[in-house]
Amino acid sequence: MLLAGFGFILSRTSFLGALSLSFLPPSTLLPTKSASHRSPPIFDDPFSPSAARFRSEITSIIQQDASVAGPLIRLAFHDAATLERDLTTTTGGPNGSIRYEMERRENRAVGRPFKIVESLWSSNNDYDDNGNSFSTQFSLADAIALSGAAAVEATGGPHIGIRMGRKDVDTADAEVSRVVVQKSTPRSRVDRTLPSAALDSDGLRLFFGRLGLSEQEFVALCGSHGLGRHVSLLGMSKPCLKNLTRTCLEEAPVLLPFVTSSVDTFDNSYFSALLQWNSNQVELGEVAFIPTDVALVVDRGLRVHVERFARDQAMYFTSFARAYQKLVDSTAVTVKRY
Ligand code: HEM
Repeated sequence: MLLAGFGFILSRTSFLGALSLSFLPPSTLLPTKSASHRSPPIFDDPFSPSAARFRSEITSIIQQDASVAGPLIRLAFHDAATLERDLTTTTGGPNGSIRYEMERRENRAVGRPFKIVESLWSSNNDYDDNGNSFSTQFSLADAIALSGAAAVEATGGPHIGIRMGRKDVDTADAEVSRVVVQKSTPRSRVDRTLPSAALDSDGLRLFFGRLGLSEQEFVALCGSHGLGRHVSLLGMSKPCLKNLTRTCLEEAPVLLPFVTSSVDTFDNSYFSALLQWNSNQVELGEVAFIPTDVALVVDRGLRVHVERFARDQAMYFTSFARAYQKLVDSTAVTVKRY
């Protein structure tokens, strides 16, 4: 068991919101109930050229360096997962607020993918050679959600079309949950708007349930840990090992793949690796899971989905695509997917 900055690395061997979008023509928005009774809505298509170009440019960046794919998906998750909704209030969600949340412990290392997305989105380069930049066409939150979808596809995963029209905010989302929930154990306590790596399976149910995601959907989303890496203590200097500061973690010399066989590739090997880990069938260095990964395979109810996804990659891709859309489209408003 290796100790990591965010907690423990377990290595056996190793909606829709009523958003006022002044820049969107009303016909672009989802129809109101009464409108849908009249005649079929006609939807303008203000995003097609710019969204397609943006996706294609992000895809080129990933093709040059596939190691940015994981961080881009994680960025999209962290911008979106702060959503808190009850009967009267909706706060957070995919709204570009992550730009004000970089110092949070859960957002360590999110700066790298953020800079990639933000600099392309805000660059003065004409996206259409007519003086239009991406940032005049869509929000940063749209750019982040598009980038995550592009990262999945560029590394072998499904094409995920997403809605557009998210509105950026100019302050950070709440760091601490409005409503604290907990089941029987301290590790099921959900008191922050991003998940703790120490959450147990009940904690995961509570956290993702708040986002409106089913068990099958959140298990699918977690499968993206099959692609990407996390920080480790390997090779760290003695002063860092004595005092593990954020700088030490951000400059860690060794990043470990969650699943060595699939790093930088979007496939279902995360689920097979979890099952192998659980039956002591992995070699040293093959996997390095965090507690929330392990929770998926040791909990009987969640394990059912792990087993299904391990058997059937096509089903995993379909489930992941739907879950990702649900996650990032919670504040999007267009009918059309891009
Ligand atoms: C279940 C709760 C979750 C927890 C506690 C969690 C935690 C973490 C942690 C600690 C890392 C390593 C960060 C680092 O060391 O740099 C990580 C990486 C990652 N996470 Fe999660 N995560 C969770 C769910 C998710 C979900 C739902 C997604 C996708 C929608 C996701 C996507 C990723 C990706 C792609 C990486 C690899 C990033 C890279 O290669 O730099 N995670 N996660």
